[in-house]
Amino acid sequence: MNFLRATQQLSMLVVPLVFLLSACSPSADKGPIVIKFPHVTAPGTPKGQGAERLRQMVAERLGDKVVIEVYPSGQLMSDDDSLEALAFGEVQMIAVSLSKLDRLTRRFQVFDLPFLFEDLASVETFQASDAGKNLLSELIDKGFQGMAYWHNGMKQFGGPVPLRQPNDGKGLKFRIMESDVLEAQILAMDGNPQKMAFGEVYQALQTGAIDAQENTWSNLYSQKFFEVQDFITESNHGYLGYMLAVNPTFWAGLPADVREPLEQIIAEVSAMVNANSELLNQQAREKIIATGVTEIIQLNAQELVAWRQIMRPVWEEFAADIGADTMSATPAGSNH
Ligand code: LMR
Repeated sequence: MNFLRATQQLSMLVVPLVFLLSACSPSADKGPIVIKFPHVTAPGTPKGQGAERLRQMVAERLGDKVVIEVYPSGQLMSDDDSLEALAFGEVQMIAVSLSKLDRLTRRFQVFDLPFLFEDLASVETFQASDAGKNLLSELIDKGFQGMAYWHNGMKQFGGPVPLRQPNDGKGLKFRIMESDVLEAQILAMDGNPQKMAFGEVYQALQTGAIDAQENTWSNLYSQKFFEVQDFITESNHGYLGYMLAVNPTFWAGLPADVREPLEQIIAEVSAMVNANSELLNQQAREKIIATGVTEIIQLNAQELVAWRQIMRPVWEEFAADIGADTMSATPAGSNH
């Protein structure tokens, strides 16, 4: 498939029309409604656990009416393909990283701005604001109805050398998700950004096609990236989270006695995911340290100042596209 990359411009025009026509409406007489939920992370990660909990709770409470089929670890499709599949009604639920919505709307770039959100609490404050809540419906006319935000966690940099100063990674090839903000972030470090699908990262690190990457502890651990990175800098420089999204036509076509309890289950599971994500990431961090395979670099206060300073122009570069209303609801407030 891959139309998002290849025909991004065209898809912006075509998808809104096509999803309205093609998204299948659920029918009550054909057995349980099947909700296919593909995602790319391992079952033990925040998203993996959330998807599995959703499946279980739906089986318990609505088992005769709805079945959620979860496909973890990219076994059904990549994130790129799942964006297309949701818009076309081939799958009914996804939770791709917010960074990967960059190509559909500039407003989601806010989540990628480096060092804007200090921790998950500051992300939550933004997500609960009017501007944050409005983003969930930003993509409805493109085939994505946001139901909730799910955290993964804060990202760390990993590489073949200790990254203490922002330009210690000068010239290194850094894998990033498909986001122009992340590209600008690596360029600010004098690095060489490489947009690449999640499922390709381990092998690319192993073969030397890329040198470095950024991800959360839970992804670094479960994908074994730490095994092929001599150093991980505990930089907490950016946020990685998801929008749990459904196809709007599919959702609107659900009988109310299915849609409403599903909304309740999603709210309960989302609260659980967001309450547990920090713990899961800390546990993954401990497991990585226990292997002794990779050295963890802690940044001192001075080094952190240097990182923040070098990244700050990235905010200015993207603030106008993100929009003043959205920016002003972030920790940057109106001072950006
Ligand atoms: C990545 O591509 O690094 C992440 O989006 C993976 C994920 O879903 O956490």
